Amino acid sequence: MTIGPSSRVFAQRLSLVESPGVTTLEEDWPIFWERASGWTVTDTDGRDYIDLTSAFGVANIGHAHPDVVAAVQHQSATLMHGMGDVHPPAVKVRLLETLAGIAPESLTLGVLGLNGGDAVEAALKCAAIVTGRPGVIAFGGGYHGLTGGALSVTSRRDFRDPFSARVSALTTFLQYPRTEAEMGYVLTDLDRRLSSKSSGLLPCGALIVEPIQGRGGVVVPPSGFLTLIRELCDRHGMMMIVDEIFTGFCRTGHWFGVQFEDVIPDLLCVGKGMGGGMPLSACLGHSESLGAWPAATGEALHTATFLGHPVSCAAAIATVAVLQKESLAQRAKTIGEHIRRVLEDADIGEVRGRGAMQGLVIGDGERAIRAVKRALAHGVVLLPSGDHGEVISLTPPLTISPEALDHALNTVVDCVRSV
Ligand SMILES: Cc1ncc(COP(=O)(O)O)c(C=O)c1O
Repeated sequence: MTIGPSSRVFAQRLSLVESPGVTTLEEDWPIFWERASGWTVTDTDGRDYIDLTSAFGVANIGHAHPDVVAAVQHQSATLMHGMGDVHPPAVKVRLLETLAGIAPESLTLGVLGLNGGDAVEAALKCAAIVTGRPGVIAFGGGYHGLTGGALSVTSRRDFRDPFSARVSALTTFLQYPRTEAEMGYVLTDLDRRLSSKSSGLLPCGALIVEPIQGRGGVVVPPSGFLTLIRELCDRHGMMMIVDEIFTGFCRTGHWFGVQFEDVIPDLLCVGKGMGGGMPLSACLGHSESLGAWPAATGEALHTATFLGHPVSCAAAIATVAVLQKESLAQRAKTIGEHIRRVLEDADIGEVRGRGAMQGLVIGDGERAIRAVKRALAHGVVLLPSGDHGEVISLTPPLTISPEALDHALNTVVDCVRSV
């Protein structure tokens, strides 16, 4: 199966109306989506695909979950848009209360946004306001979004270099550790540099970290990493920002990845799966982080036209209820175990990850993309990850049926073997 004729026509039409810097258009890529339900996506040629990406890790509860559709329909007919930080929609309050109920203890305050990058902007601004120190520590391979502040803590050169003159130089990048030895070296060295007046490090107010690097290639750090970072941040008066935009909302088998170590960050960024398919993100914090912002007196310190968008808020409340009702954190664990078993038995590359966030290390980006394209031609949507696209990410909807998952995994194995 190659890309269908309708998708080819849409690609041609898109090339005339969108900046070429946005969508990659090739002979065998992309397909154009017409509709999606659960784990099945249908393209404009009427072909069905199993989505092993959850569309960038968003469709944790599946595409177009009926409870979310009902909430969106009701909310849009009732109040489509409000005045987020001036005359707020009531549903914004209900959502923030819901988030306070599921977030790790003490993270009961929030600032809402639309994209993940918005949550990261809020967190970085918060650290700057509260500590008065502009420097930030981030990790190589980390991905936090492409807006100004978020780009400044995202390490990939191909995203940063075209804007190098504008990207803040206030970030120090460290190696994201894969072994205990690396972790010991990286954190001890950082501790030493933060303690020394002559290290050349800028005064740092924050450290930002992903519990598992998603776009960086599904890299799982050694256990104890977040705990050591928590201690280091406490010792040096830095805000610990944990970016759970990918790992949050049950993806890895807990509500949040920090819960594997019982660590409470100062700021927790969430997005993607939170809105059940509607655009929504949040930076969550406690009384000494978000609570320490000066009170708004007429102008918000940080806001946007669509802050607290009512329809997204209603969708997120419904999404949380579905995650709870369908025990999807537990299901993420089962899915992860199954993926690992099938791929490890097939012996086609290292498998790593946690819960329903797994990566198959192909090692060679060109081979990985050939496998991804072949899988697409055989009805499975996949994405490569890693700085060179050398890892195939597997992040299916947590609602996927065992039969669909098995079928898709067999396709992945066949496609990887054949390229
Ligand atoms: C960990 C992480 N942080 C931030 C972002 C940025 O989110 P968005 O693309 O919604 O701005 C992403 C997106 O993939 C992500 O994976």
